[in-house]
Amino acid sequence: MSSHDGKATWPAKLGLGLALITTAILLVILGMFGVNLLGALLVPPDQPVAAAPATPAAPTAAAPASQAPVAEKAPAAPAQPDPAVAALLKAGAEVYIGCSACHGPQGKAVVANMAPNLAGSAYVNGPSERLAMIVLNGIQYPGPYLGQMISWKAQFTDEQIAGVLTYIRSNFGNSAPPVTVDQIKAARQKHGPRDKPFSRAELDKVTTNL
Ligand code: HEC
Repeated sequence: MSSHDGKATWPAKLGLGLALITTAILLVILGMFGVNLLGALLVPPDQPVAAAPATPAAPTAAAPASQAPVAEKAPAAPAQPDPAVAALLKAGAEVYIGCSACHGPQGKAVVANMAPNLAGSAYVNGPSERLAMIVLNGIQYPGPYLGQMISWKAQFTDEQIAGVLTYIRSNFGNSAPPVTVDQIKAARQKHGPRDKPFSRAELDKVTTNL
């Protein structure tokens, strides 16, 4: 009986064992798919649902925060230059087109040694009277440059000269204060009657702003 039972139970145990193993494998495989399927089913709804409210919420919170300082700073910067300076810069930009033939559109001499750079120039950024003298009466020739700085007083009005000097003091990396029309008027009264250009030695003695 025992041997018969034994013989009878072995195949049954084997069958049961195989069935359990197969089931286990299937469960594992199904479990893996189940997890993946669950994950695939759960993650997409979770992510969009979580992302959807988060995305509008984050920009809404960030937008006013980032716009507020920009809105406060933006008008402050353009509002600073007063209308008189804006008008000088506009007139000066037109006059400077002629100057740029030698001094270059960016204040760097078109041809090396032809004319000095206005970018970073001590004469441009220095006393306004000296700068006015250069443009009103010119610089004595020959100098260290191939080109010549002539007198411009007959070609331009006080507004135009104040404009071009304000323009070259505010561009090319220069940051000297504007030159006013009144300063050019005073410079013209003082130096205009002179009929020859200034030497650099004469210019270098001048330290005043008219
Ligand atoms: C034909 C060429 C030419 C034109 C146009 C010209 N310049 Fe000049 N400029 C020169 C030369 C050359 C010098 C240097 C002269 C020297 O030192 O012998 C000079 C010197 C200067 C300087 C002194 C800069 C320094 O650091 O030595 C200033 C400022 C200046 N020019 C402004 C102007 C302005 C403003 C205009 C336009 C209204 C103008 N120039 C038009 C040739 C020119």
